[in-house]
Amino acid sequence: MIVLVGFMGAGKSTVGPLLAAGLGLPFADLDQVIERQQGRPVRDIFAAGGEAAFRAVEHEALASFLAGPDAVLALGGGAVEHPASQRLLRPVSAVLPVVYLEVGYDEALRRVGGDSGRPMLASPDLAGIYRRRLAGYEAVATLTVATGGRPARAVCDEVMAGLTRLERAGYSH
Ligand code: S3P
Repeated sequence: MIVLVGFMGAGKSTVGPLLAAGLGLPFADLDQVIERQQGRPVRDIFAAGGEAAFRAVEHEALASFLAGPDAVLALGGGAVEHPASQRLLRPVSAVLPVVYLEVGYDEALRRVGGDSGRPMLASPDLAGIYRRRLAGYEAVATLTVATGGRPARAVCDEVMAGLTRLERAGYSH
């Protein structure tokens, strides 16, 4: 299992499939897993129960996915904010790579634009949320790769090189 974390717009859903193809693993996006399980879009889960309801559903989906077969799994940008999800990821990071795709705040906003499918973009203090989350990403990351101004292919190549280094150091995936 390889888990990708990072803020909205970090490139998890673009780099993830490239990485999965390179490693011969299936790719999954946890938001899509949640939408299939719940039978409604993430936006509707937020609208019905707010962020707390979404985080609870996200946590359950993450826990069951991590117990399943190997894949490259992209998490939503806020998954690390849920304490129980973060606790799940720390042991994963200790034995299996959690890759943090780093993106600056301004670039993240440029990449996601005004996507109405991402309710968190409407938060009054999005910059504060971004800053708060950095510690969460760093807490779970085994490997950190900067994505600023770089095409997905270059980011993917650097992740692959990093994974090879980790494998030599005793990690598996
Ligand atoms: C969220 C990010 C989204 C999705 C949900 C909440 C967040 O995923 O999980 O809208 O809190 O940052 P992406 O990071 O793939 O946009």
